[in-house]
Amino acid sequence: MRHILLLCLTVLLFACGNDTPPPPAMPPLSDLPLVPLPVEMSNTEGYLHLDHEKEYDHSGADAGAVDYLKSKGIMSLPLATAVEESLTLPEGAYLLEITPEGITISARDAAGIFNGTTTLEQVLAFSPNTERGRFLPAGTITDMPRFAYRGYMLDVARTFFGVDTVKAVIDRIAPYKINHLHLHLSDDQGWRIEIKSWPNLATIGGQFEVDGTPGGYFTQEQYKEIVAYAASRGMTVVPEIDMPGHTNAALSAYAELNLDGQARDPYTGTEVGFSTLDANKEVTYQFVDDVIRELAAITPGPYIHLGGDESAVTPHDDYVKFVREVQQIIINHGKLAMGWDEVAIAGLAEGTVAQLWNHTEYALMAQKLGNKVLISPATRTYLDMQYDSLSRIGLHWAAYIEVDSAYLWDPVKLVDGITNEDILGIEAPLWGETIRSIEDIDYLTFPRLLALAEVGWTQQNKRNYSDFLRRLKAQQVWLKEQGIGTYDTRVLK
Ligand code: ACM
Repeated sequence: MRHILLLCLTVLLFACGNDTPPPPAMPPLSDLPLVPLPVEMSNTEGYLHLDHEKEYDHSGADAGAVDYLKSKGIMSLPLATAVEESLTLPEGAYLLEITPEGITISARDAAGIFNGTTTLEQVLAFSPNTERGRFLPAGTITDMPRFAYRGYMLDVARTFFGVDTVKAVIDRIAPYKINHLHLHLSDDQGWRIEIKSWPNLATIGGQFEVDGTPGGYFTQEQYKEIVAYAASRGMTVVPEIDMPGHTNAALSAYAELNLDGQARDPYTGTEVGFSTLDANKEVTYQFVDDVIRELAAITPGPYIHLGGDESAVTPHDDYVKFVREVQQIIINHGKLAMGWDEVAIAGLAEGTVAQLWNHTEYALMAQKLGNKVLISPATRTYLDMQYDSLSRIGLHWAAYIEVDSAYLWDPVKLVDGITNEDILGIEAPLWGETIRSIEDIDYLTFPRLLALAEVGWTQQNKRNYSDFLRRLKAQQVWLKEQGIGTYDTRVLK
């Protein structure tokens, strides 16, 4: 009897073993086409099988991480996360472990947990998904950012995009570990943020956009909604009020801000360098103080960007006086100032960041003053530049920027004398002269942003262009699957 029982059991086990089909062919974790490339990936035996039919326990996972994954259609995972301040990892770093039993993400801070979550999002996207469920290769990823600040700028002033479009942009860029969204909220063509103490800024200054089409503006409630949405995707909003030039919209809304006391007509062209606030009028500083006060109150992030670029009709001494005073106003409201590289001419307050876009000599001036530099050279990072002469939209005053040009450079090699320690990070601005829709935003942003995201995140000695292209090819397919209208770059042909 005992023998028969044993025999039955053996037959049963054998049958079960044979009934369980093998896992699908699966690349090791370290071969998945992740962008930006993590610092270290090691493979271990086995895989994690995620059954589509099963509900997994994620009660040990950060609610923000679970919500983020749910927003991407990933409903249930055996996921646990842990913030351990004692972990010897830098800010934003994380450890992602996949075993046959489940997934854990550990980090020192919330940013690290979010970064690990976006890596997991990509691991899921690129692991085999079959009728029997998803199969993730087991292994460990240890990862950390090269630069603390990895930014994307959207110009909503020249062309206005509403809350839903801005949220869609946030969703598209978050997987690539972009952690700052710079909103260019005012320019000659439009003022896009409600200021309660100066209501005409939005209602009159926000009426139009480039080409004279109807504009719009964010109410403060809508702006707060964007800020909160960005935060839920690991992103800090940096609002910009461009001054003292690029101010025709404000000058059309309030006559008293003009040098001659006459309100300007709305401007719907694309020239630059013709408008200025009056640096010698008291009302100008009252205006700036009110705007910064209201903006600071709804901006939890540390920075307010004061613009400061292309103030061609502001006399030099006036420019210096104005930029100094505005930095102080920003500090008075508890924030740090950021400005385009020209602001270095005025001298910089402690903590002011100079954003290098066109003048290396000004970036060097900022560095010599002991201030940090944000790297966004127009020739490499401006997403409004065309890929080549056939690009259907975009400008080319700085360069044509194909994926190779966006990838093959090192921020520390850009300016002699500006080292790793001087660099806050990098930013990719998308100016709005030629964009009208989310399709246009996608076309100019993707896939180039992936190259720039890797420049900002991955250590230079880990970056390899041909390996990047291997990964980009798979990412391009994923972008298309998500309905993101990425440009068919020639570098993948
Ligand atoms: C700029 O492109 N004018 C900063």
